[in-house]
Amino acid sequence: MNTPTIKVNIDHAAGFLQDNHLDKIQEELLVQHRVLMNRTGKGNDYLGWIDLPSKTDQTMIGRILDDAARMKELCEVVVVVGIGGSYLGSRAVIEALGHPFHTLDRERTTPVILFAGHHIGEDYHAFLLDILNQYDYGLIVISKSGTTTEPAVAFRLLKDHIERKYGREKARTRIMAITDRSRGALKKLSDEQGYTTYIVPDDIGGRYSVLTPVGLLPVAVAGFDIRDLLAGAMHMEKIAAVSAQMNENPAALYAATRSSLYRQGKAIEILVNYLPSLSFLAEWWKQLFGESEGKEHKGLFPANVNFTSDLHSMGQYIQDGARHLFETMILVKQTSRQLIIPAFRDDPDGLNYISGKKLEEVNSKAAQGTLMAHVDGNVPVLTLEMERMDEFHLGQLLYFFEYACALSGYLLGVNPFDQPGVEAYKNKMFALLGKKGYGHS
Ligand code: PA5
Repeated sequence: MNTPTIKVNIDHAAGFLQDNHLDKIQEELLVQHRVLMNRTGKGNDYLGWIDLPSKTDQTMIGRILDDAARMKELCEVVVVVGIGGSYLGSRAVIEALGHPFHTLDRERTTPVILFAGHHIGEDYHAFLLDILNQYDYGLIVISKSGTTTEPAVAFRLLKDHIERKYGREKARTRIMAITDRSRGALKKLSDEQGYTTYIVPDDIGGRYSVLTPVGLLPVAVAGFDIRDLLAGAMHMEKIAAVSAQMNENPAALYAATRSSLYRQGKAIEILVNYLPSLSFLAEWWKQLFGESEGKEHKGLFPANVNFTSDLHSMGQYIQDGARHLFETMILVKQTSRQLIIPAFRDDPDGLNYISGKKLEEVNSKAAQGTLMAHVDGNVPVLTLEMERMDEFHLGQLLYFFEYACALSGYLLGVNPFDQPGVEAYKNKMFALLGKKGYGHS
C-alpha cells in the first residue's frame, strides 16, 4: 500500500474540539467518500480530476514536452494569459519549485514566465507590452470557457503586439491555446489561426485543472518535471481512493478536522507558510476552497499569511484578536540549499548564540515557537508536514488539497464544483460596459 509522505498532525487542534466530535464525523466521511467515489453526489459531472493523475494520456504528455521544448528554444519570455483556475495553479507550482531570482539569473536556461490577464490593470499591461519589445517571447493563452473578459482583453492586446513584432505567420508559431474542446471564442480563434491547442477536459472545473494542460504546459515550459508532479498526485490519488479512514487517509483527516472546527464556530482558516515561495500555493488554495465551499451563506473563509514576514503584521491579530480562526501550517522539513549563520568577532549584534546553525534551523524554531504561542492564545493549529518541496511532493500536496476540498464541500452539504456567485459581478460589469443583452442596472 502507498504511504503518504504528507503528515497531517492535529495534536494542536483536537483539544479544541468537543469530545468524540472526530469519531462522529468519521461516519459522515465514510458516507461522503462513497458518494464521491461512486460519483453520485452534487456536481458529479465535474469529477474528472479524481482519477486524472492515473489516467493522464502519456501521448499528450509527450506532446506537451515537445511543445515546451519548442517554446524554450524560441523564447526568452513566455507570457501565460489566464485568470482564476486558468492561472493560479501554474503560477503556484512555478513559484513553489522555482528560483526566486530567476528573472535576474544570467545563466538561466528556461524562459522567464510572466502572467497577464489575471486583472485589468492598465499600467501593468502597458509596461508588459513595453518590456516585450526587448525580448523574444511567446504566449500561452488559457481560458476554459474561452469567453472570460480579463484574459480575452489581455490576449487581444498581446496578439496585436506579437503579430506586429513577428508578422502574422511567425506569430502563430509562438502562440499556444488551452481551451474547451468545442465551445467558446478562443476555440474558434485557435482553429482559425491554426494555433497549437490543448483541451481542458469537460469534466474538470478551472480550480481543479492544475494537472491538466492548463497547469502542465506552463510548468513544463518553466523547466519542471511534469511527470514527477503527476506521479506525486497519483501517489495521493491511490491513498485517497482506498479509504476515508482518518488514520489512513491524510486528506480525510484534514477535511474532518477543518469541518469540525467550522461546525464549532470557527469562521476563518488561515493557511500559513514559512517559505515565501509558497505564497502563490496559498492563492491557489484560497480559490480552491473559497469557490468550492463559499455558497448558500456557508463555508470557512480561506485566508493566508507568509511567516515569519506576517508575524510582524498579522501576528498580532492571530495571537490576540477575535477567536474565530484556526491555522493550517505547511511545514517543509528539508531545504534544497544550505546557509550557515557566520560567527562575528566580538558578537556586535548578539547573534553568536545561533552562529553555526543552518538558517532553516532558525526558521523551524520560529515555526515551533509560533505554534506554541498561538495555541496558548487559543488558536487551534493543524500542521501539514512534508519532507521537501519538489515535483513529487508538490504533486501529492495538490491532489491532497483537491480531494480534501471535495470531501469538505460534501460534509458542508454544498456542491463543491460550481461557482454561481462568480457570475454576479460579470453581469453588473457587462451592463456598465454596454454589452449587448445586459440591461443597465
Ligand atoms: O474556478 C473557476 O471556474 C473560475 O475561477 C475560472 O477558473 C476563471 O473564471 C477562469 O475561467 P476561464 O478558464 O473559463 O477563462
